[in-house]
Amino acid sequence: SNPSLLILPGDGIGPEVMAEVRKIIDWFGAKRDLVFDVSEDLVGGAAYDAHGTPLHDDTMAKAQEVDAVLLGAVGGPKYDVLDFSVKPERGLLRLRKEMDLFANLRPAQCFDALADFSSLKTEVVSGLDIMIVRELTSGVYFGEPRGIFEEGNERVGINTQRYTESEIERVARASFELAMKRDKKLCSMEKANVMESGILWREVVTRVGADYPEVELSHMYADAGAMQLTRWPKQFDVIVTDNLFGDLLSDLAAMLTGSLGMLPSASLGAPMANGRPKAMYEPVHGSAPDIAGQGKANPIACILSFAMALRYSFDQGDEATRLEKAIEAVLADGYRTADLLGEEGRDPVSTSAMGDAIVAALDAS
Ligand code: NAI
Ligand code: MG
Repeated sequence: SNPSLLILPGDGIGPEVMAEVRKIIDWFGAKRDLVFDVSEDLVGGAAYDAHGTPLHDDTMAKAQEVDAVLLGAVGGPKYDVLDFSVKPERGLLRLRKEMDLFANLRPAQCFDALADFSSLKTEVVSGLDIMIVRELTSGVYFGEPRGIFEEGNERVGINTQRYTESEIERVARASFELAMKRDKKLCSMEKANVMESGILWREVVTRVGADYPEVELSHMYADAGAMQLTRWPKQFDVIVTDNLFGDLLSDLAAMLTGSLGMLPSASLGAPMANGRPKAMYEPVHGSAPDIAGQGKANPIACILSFAMALRYSFDQGDEATRLEKAIEAVLADGYRTADLLGEEGRDPVSTSAMGDAIVAALDAS
C-alpha cells in the first residue's frame, strides 16, 4: 500500500504554504510514481473554530496511525484571548507529547543563491548542510525538582538537568540512524567537564556508537561547539545534543543560513511496527499573521519539510535531493518571495508563483 501522510495546514499562512506543498506532492505522484495516501485535517485555531478544541481526538488518533504528519503553523491574534487549555499551541504540544517525539531535527542548509543573505562570510556558509538533533522531551526543562522555593530568608529558583540512560540512548540511536543516511559523521555535544548528566551522556552515546562502526563519532563541549559552529560550520554533519543546548545551538545554526521562510524541521519518535519512526514535519516559522492572506509567504520552509519527510520517513533520499535541487535552481534563477529580498528594490514573487516555479524546475529535472 502507499505510504500515508496526514496534512494539518493549521492557521495563518499555514494553509497558504501547504497549498504549494500539495502541488509538489501531486507532482511526485504523477511524474515519479510516488503516490501518497494523503488525508487532511484541522489543527490549532482552525480546529478550535470547528470543534472547540485545538486538536480533535479523531485527528490525534489519525496522527498516530499515519507514516508521517506534515504541519503548517498554528496560532494568531484572534486566539490570544482563549484560555490556555484550548490555545492553538496546545494542539501542537499534544501531538508532540502523545506521539512522544523526542528527537527534534533542525537542518542548517545553505542554498548558494542565498549565501549573500547570511551574516557570515560566503565561503563559510556556501554549500553548508548540517543537521542538529535536539533531545526534546527531557532534560532541564522538565526535570524535578523544579520551582521557586523559600530558603532561609530568600527564595531560590530551581531546575534540574536530568537524563536517564534510556532517554540518551534513544536520541543517540536516532542520530546515528540519521548520520547513516547522510555523511556518516556525528558530533555529540554536552558539558561533561562540569555536568554529571554530561558524563552519562558521553558514555551512553559512545556505547550506542559501537553499533554504528561506519559512523565517525566525536565529542565536543557545547560551548566550544557554539564557537566552532560560527567559525567553520562545514566541519559538522550531524550534531546531537540535549534539550537546553539544542535549543540554543539549533537557533544559532538556523541563522547561519538566513531567513525563517527557508527553515524546515522534523520531530521523530520511536520506530513503529513498519520500522519507520513516528514523525512530524513542520516549518520552523509560525502563522505570520502580519502577512497572512496576502500571498506573500515563502512556501520553501514547508516544502523543505516535505523533502525531509521523503528522506527520513520514506527512504526517498534521491527524490528529496531532486526537490532540494529544484529549489536551488529556482533561487538561482532569481525567484524571491518578499522575505528573501531584504532592502533590494526588486519585485517579489507570490507564494503560488514560487510553488509553480519549483514544480516547473522539477519538470525540468
Ligand atoms: P512567525 O514565525 O509567525 O513570524 C515572524 C516573522 O517572520 C513575521 O514578520 C513573519 O511575517 C515572518 N515570516 C514567518 N514565516 C514566513 C514565511 N514563510 N515567509 C515569509 N515571512 C515569514 O512568528 P511570530 O510572529 O512570533 O508568531 C505569530 C503566530 O505564530 C503566533 O500566534 C505564534 O504563537 C505562532 N507560532 C507558531 C509556531 C508553530 O506553529 N510552530 C511557531 C512560532 C510561532
Ligand atoms: Mg528556541
